[in-house]
Amino acid sequence: MFVVLLAVSSLDGRITRPGESGPGFASPEDQAWFSAALRGFDCAVMGRATFDTIREQVAAETGRRRLRVVITRAPATHAAEARPGLVEFTAEEPRAIVAGLRARGFRQCALLGGGQIYRAFLDAGLVDAMWLTVEPVVLGGGTPLADGVVTPAHGRFVLEEMRLLAPSTLLLNYRRPDRPPLRLPEP
Ligand SMILES: NC(=O)c1ccc[n+]([C@@H]2O[C@H](COP(=O)([O-])OP(=O)(O)OC[C@H]3O[C@@H](n4cnc5c(N)ncnc54)[C@H](OP(=O)(O)O)[C@@H]3O)[C@@H](O)[C@H]2O)c1
Repeated sequence: MFVVLLAVSSLDGRITRPGESGPGFASPEDQAWFSAALRGFDCAVMGRATFDTIREQVAAETGRRRLRVVITRAPATHAAEARPGLVEFTAEEPRAIVAGLRARGFRQCALLGGGQIYRAFLDAGLVDAMWLTVEPVVLGGGTPLADGVVTPAHGRFVLEEMRLLAPSTLLLNYRRPDRPPLRLPEP
């Protein structure tokens, strides 16, 4: 199974504006790219704080979508909103989560943040590729892409592709040096 970190970042490596939740600085082009790219994934993993920002959207969905795994230290408190196979809450460590998804036959996992969860998966060496949109803004604060220390050996990537989403918005496809390339989906 491939784990792909998807994120939109400012030029100074922030994934939110200071004091705000959600990637409100993302361009319309990035939002369109993100929605289209997600269709290629059969599961997604995110932190509870990120899930909070899409909870209503997920609750309103009809039909079968990809599995969302939400990481929280208190999964029992979310029992009422859990839907097995669609929205699951877990306190497992990243390695156990990835092993469990692989054992269930999932093939492509979107790692959707936020900063704490990106850091945890990067630190564990579990991120195979990063599809990173860089928006042409400096925010000077906000949630960092990797919120904390990452083992240096797990924090190195190789540039595979780049694409302009808009005149000043760049999409970068990085892969771990020891993993095969995973091409960006066609626009
Ligand atoms: N620009 C982008 O591409 C992008 C992408 C994703 C998210 N975001 C934004 O980033 C913000 C959220 O980022 P964040 O770093 O604050 O939070 P986060 O990574 O989304 O979630 C943090 C939460 O995850 C749980 N958690 C963290 N470490 C854990 C561990 N070791 N074991 C069990 N649970 C653990 C905890 O949940 P509990 O408190 O429930 O225990 C913690 O509060 C949101 O505003 C979101 O919109 C931006």
